[in-house]
Amino acid sequence: MQKILILYSSRTGNTEKMASAVAEGARATGKVEVDVEYHVDAEDLVRYDAIVVGTSTYYHDMPMDMKHLFEEAAVKSISLKGKTGAAFGSYGWSGEAPKMVLEIMKLKFQMNVTEPPLLVLNTPSQTSLDQCKALGKRVSETLMHVA
Ligand SMILES: Cc1cc2nc3c(=O)[nH]c(=O)nc-3n(C[C@H](O)[C@H](O)[C@H](O)COP(=O)(O)O)c2cc1C
Repeated sequence: MQKILILYSSRTGNTEKMASAVAEGARATGKVEVDVEYHVDAEDLVRYDAIVVGTSTYYHDMPMDMKHLFEEAAVKSISLKGKTGAAFGSYGWSGEAPKMVLEIMKLKFQMNVTEPPLLVLNTPSQTSLDQCKALGKRVSETLMHVA
C-alpha cells in the first residue's frame, strides 16, 4: 500500500487542525496508509511515497525543526526524487513558509509537487477544513494513479 506522511508544525493549533483534516481526506479513499507526525528523522522520509508538510509562518520563515529536517536530508544525500509533495499552513499576513517548503521539495529534492500551497488565514473555518480534506484526497488519488 502507498504511504503518505503528513508532517506538521503548529504553535497555537491552527495548522494542526488543518493537518487532521488533510489526513481525514487522505484516509477517506481507503487506499493509502497515512501517518501524521510532529517530528521525523531525515531517514524516515524515504519510507513514504508522498510527503505533505504543514507549517505556519513566524517571522516570515518556517520553523527551525523543518529547516533542520531538509538540511539533514540534503547533507545525508537522501533521495526524495519523484515522490509526491504538497504543503499547507495557517498564516497571519504573509504566509511564506509553505511556499518555501514547496520550493525546496521541487528545486532541491526534485519531488513532484502540487502547487500552489494551501494557505489559511488564522483559525481554519469549516470551508477551509473542507479544502484541507480535498487536498488530502487529491494527494491520495495522485498516488493511486501512479501505483
Ligand atoms: C510572533 C509572531 C510572529 C508571526 N509572524 C508571522 C509572519 O511573519 N507572517 C505571517 O503570515 N504570520 C505570522 N504570524 C501569524 C501566525 O502564522 C498565525 O497566528 C498562525 O495562525 C499560527 O498558526 P499555528 O497555530 O499553526 O502555529 C506570526 C504570529 C506571531 C505570534
